[in-house]
Amino acid sequence: MCGIVGYLGGRDAYPVLIKGLHRLEYRGYDSAGIAMVSASGELNLYKSKGKVADLERFAESKDISGTIGIAHTRWATHGEPNDLNAHPHYSQSKNLALIHNGIIENYSVLRLELESKGFRFRSSTDTEVIVYLIEYIMQTNGVDLCTAVQLALHQVVGAYAIALVAKDNPDQIIAARKSSPLVVGIGEGEYFLASDATPIVEYTDKVVYLNDGEIAVIRRDAPLKIVDLDNVEITPEVKRLAMNLSQLEKGGYPHFMLKEIYEQPQTLYNCIRGRINVEGTNVVLSGVIDNRDKFLHASRIIIVACGTSWHAALIGEHLIEDLCRIPVEVEYASEFRYRNPVICPGDIVIAISQSGETADTLAAVELAKSRGAFIYGICNVVGSSIARATDSGSYIHVGPEIGVASTKAFTGQVTVLSMLALTLARLKGTIGEDKFVRMVQGLQAIPDKIKEVLDHADAIADLSKIFTYAHNFIYLGRGYNYPAALEGALKLKEISYIHAEGYPAAEMKHGPIALIDAEMPVVAIATTDSIYEKTISNIQEIKARRGKVIAIVTEGDSVVRSIADYCIEVPRVEEPFAPLVASVPLQLLAYYIAVHKGRDVDQPRNLAKSVTVE
Ligand code: M6R
Repeated sequence: MCGIVGYLGGRDAYPVLIKGLHRLEYRGYDSAGIAMVSASGELNLYKSKGKVADLERFAESKDISGTIGIAHTRWATHGEPNDLNAHPHYSQSKNLALIHNGIIENYSVLRLELESKGFRFRSSTDTEVIVYLIEYIMQTNGVDLCTAVQLALHQVVGAYAIALVAKDNPDQIIAARKSSPLVVGIGEGEYFLASDATPIVEYTDKVVYLNDGEIAVIRRDAPLKIVDLDNVEITPEVKRLAMNLSQLEKGGYPHFMLKEIYEQPQTLYNCIRGRINVEGTNVVLSGVIDNRDKFLHASRIIIVACGTSWHAALIGEHLIEDLCRIPVEVEYASEFRYRNPVICPGDIVIAISQSGETADTLAAVELAKSRGAFIYGICNVVGSSIARATDSGSYIHVGPEIGVASTKAFTGQVTVLSMLALTLARLKGTIGEDKFVRMVQGLQAIPDKIKEVLDHADAIADLSKIFTYAHNFIYLGRGYNYPAALEGALKLKEISYIHAEGYPAAEMKHGPIALIDAEMPVVAIATTDSIYEKTISNIQEIKARRGKVIAIVTEGDSVVRSIADYCIEVPRVEEPFAPLVASVPLQLLAYYIAVHKGRDVDQPRNLAKSVTVE
């Protein structure tokens, strides 16, 4: 939810830290700050409300010398976003500075204890107690910084990724994690630290992902040392990054979101590559094949996820029940984790998460694990916490998604779920050979079909101008397209701030139809499928109440075209894959409306890309 960067080496730290903050700004962007030990031995700390660019303006005239530093971009949890609450936080003596991502649940108890010992806090954050506590332990126990961190973290309840620098030691950064990610990059005589690999990739491809309960002792001219809270040394496992720098740039697009929408033909091709054979006669999702007995004997599948990933899960439910005849339940991870769910032997839990760091989904995985379930992950970020916590899984391979509004990850998730259902259906024998090959070839064709949708982007941009000033929107769909309607509504609300609701079209008459009048835009997904006629009736009901209907229809459709006010055509595809093509015009519609409204499309208010707090 916040972004952490650190640098220790031979370069000037400031440019590395600022560039790193820009790369992590998607994780939070209400305030930012930096702490560096200067060439003259000062521990300088600069912070500012607003975005990283505001911090840069603030630091312009300051001493930004030094080859060691830590930096932070914040998404506020405790304490409003302002200069005081921004990280880093000094210790009481100002000899230490600390940054933190996560939530300290027992911070008020710790704060009261420290206040009773005479400490005076400067901010309203939960974070400040950690650095005060660490300094207090150093002073009272006469221990070094690493030992004080270990002792302090034994007292801390909650989630954290932290990094610290000390004024009197310009050659060391201490970092620790529990439930919030941290990666150490290893260069030639230099180290990088970050919440994810994006600030690191341009300097080195050698990284070590910290595990929960681990502390990295990063020292100048010395090998990386990792210890646990009890000071047991752990051998660092060095991994190679597969990502490249161009994936992290806008590549000429005005926003990451638009770039990511346009990338979808390629990202889906990458997702399918090596899994569907060239002839389109077979699909092999190795995670399913490797665990064939578990999948073959599964009595139920429970899918846990949040937000867009939850919408993909709903499509997965349709696919798996339809093709594999296994009962599926879809749960919000945030509800699942707190409602004492029944998990039986033979249940498989699938966790879907783009970032692989969503706290609620991770907690749902841990809960299911503790009840003995087999857990399968569908993640994008390689090496992420959820990917590592699951027993097996499949990456969606769509590359870094930076826009806060998820687009290419959604279509990647649905594509992996489609391949999972097809692989399993064939294993179980619940699909005939002809249908299997037709479906596999249909899925293989999706990247090209999405290219065709993108050819209509200009028309969608024009249409969006008409609806820029709407205050409400309703999105309707049925069957496979119902989750696509939910996803379309989420895209619009999160980036344009227009209120939008998604409904199964037939539910309208049970209440929401009362909202319809001549002012209400209704986006109806009405592709030609097994319930097309029923959807047409639902659209008629909207038109009878003078609602403005924007219909997503299959190319060549004339029936809906004669009823709806506006139509956007998508190519004909196999019914289960309709959301893959229908969601793209909805992404574009939301994008262009938000742009016309002058919204910050990639960093909408109050949000962050990766929700690593409850
Ligand atoms: O990284 P995850 O897929 O676990 O994230 C889940 C949601 O936070 C995420 O999909 C969110 O809803 C997006 N901003 C939607 O565009």
